[in-house]
Amino acid sequence: MAAWSPSSWRDRPALQLPAYADPGALRAAEDRLRGLPPLIFPGEIAQLRGRLAAVARGEAFLLQGGDCAESFDEPGQDAVESTFRVILQMAVVLTYAAACPVVKVGRIAGQFAKPRSSDTETQGGVTLPSYRGDIVNGAAFDAAARAPDPARLLAAYSHSAATLNLLRALAQGGFADLHAVHRWTTGFVRQSPQGERFEELADRITQSLAFMQACGFDAARAPQLHAVEFYTSHEALHLHYEEALLRRDDAGCYGASAHMLWLGERTRQVDGAHVEFLRGLRNVLGVKLGPKADPADVLRLLDVLDPGHEPGRIVLIARMGSEQVGERLPPLLRAVRDAGRTPVWCCDPMHGNTVATANGTKTRDFGRILQEVRGFFEAHAREGTHPGGLHFEMTGQDVTECRGGAQALDDAALAARYRTACDPRLNGSQSLELAFLVADVLNAARRR
Ligand code: TRP
Ligand code: MN
Repeated sequence: MAAWSPSSWRDRPALQLPAYADPGALRAAEDRLRGLPPLIFPGEIAQLRGRLAAVARGEAFLLQGGDCAESFDEPGQDAVESTFRVILQMAVVLTYAAACPVVKVGRIAGQFAKPRSSDTETQGGVTLPSYRGDIVNGAAFDAAARAPDPARLLAAYSHSAATLNLLRALAQGGFADLHAVHRWTTGFVRQSPQGERFEELADRITQSLAFMQACGFDAARAPQLHAVEFYTSHEALHLHYEEALLRRDDAGCYGASAHMLWLGERTRQVDGAHVEFLRGLRNVLGVKLGPKADPADVLRLLDVLDPGHEPGRIVLIARMGSEQVGERLPPLLRAVRDAGRTPVWCCDPMHGNTVATANGTKTRDFGRILQEVRGFFEAHAREGTHPGGLHFEMTGQDVTECRGGAQALDDAALAARYRTACDPRLNGSQSLELAFLVADVLNAARRR
């Protein structure tokens, strides 16, 4: 294999990158980014890899969730805090109900670039570049907004830094303290059946803490109970941005934009630019695998991305669709297992289950999402491999984007608060419901 360098990806075919009108402005933005501090610290990557090695051994569970696409228009505390709060709630459900440590990773603080099926979009006879996420251009359908603008690379960095700063405070500063578990259910979630179920669980946790305290175990001072480790991830799509945020230390190169970076289903070609760039980084690497993924391709990818079989290095994220998971996943599980590989296997039950309503709104059925999760667990049980985690798109806000769930949202109800910048997300109540159901499945799997 040819030598890797931070820019060796530039000699490979690079899909899904924007065409900038002014290469000089792009270079200036890259130079500026190169001089800015890293967003994450490499020791944190090592720590996450250790946690994921435990997941790969079947000793912990990975919970990875957040927006499909973050937006520059939602810079406030609410969006970040409500998403973080729901991830905490889901984590506590899984930790308590399934008695399983949970590794928490957000699709957050950098999830700004989106792959598109077409380079252009036509409306009313006008053709403009497709919206590729806030890091590239604006969503509004006018020529000025849709022109790719290199200044957005710097805006993406600033938004990521501000978001990450808040997340670090929330994770470490008392908000995530298990003694505050009752404070995480707010607003509409509190009124929902899931909210009630969560409150019962919160009561039991509070009682357990009081019990431990009474027994002489100083729960009030135990640092494990006061804070969580929270890691960030996004799709490593915009390679100019990712290269400009590459940093070096004694151990080599790492991507300083997030702890975990993933390759999308559309940009994981073994000789493509995205695989070339990521193979040289120490970060945890995710790979999305759709129903067309071929076992031989997956093994080649693993050889390129993880030649040393390093524990906790790779997360394979299966997004097969509820109808295909039973048929498409097992051959991959077998091939990977028989090659002596032990990546983390994670289930993305969202992206293979996107459908359109009669009037063309993109949605997902809660029942399908759950069905794919079940199929994922069943496939692992049959093949003797570990169902390691869950990858989902959600927001803490009270949106109406996915159908079904205990709230029984139907097509008519979707119009009320359909706000996503890209794919339909689970709302806070649907996310909690999913966590309770997954806790049941995980429990059953662990008892087998
Ligand atoms: N630190 C532990 C953990 O992350 C326990 C914990 C503290 C926790 N706050 C939490 C677990 C919130 C889940 C959610 O597992
Ligand atoms: Mn999406």
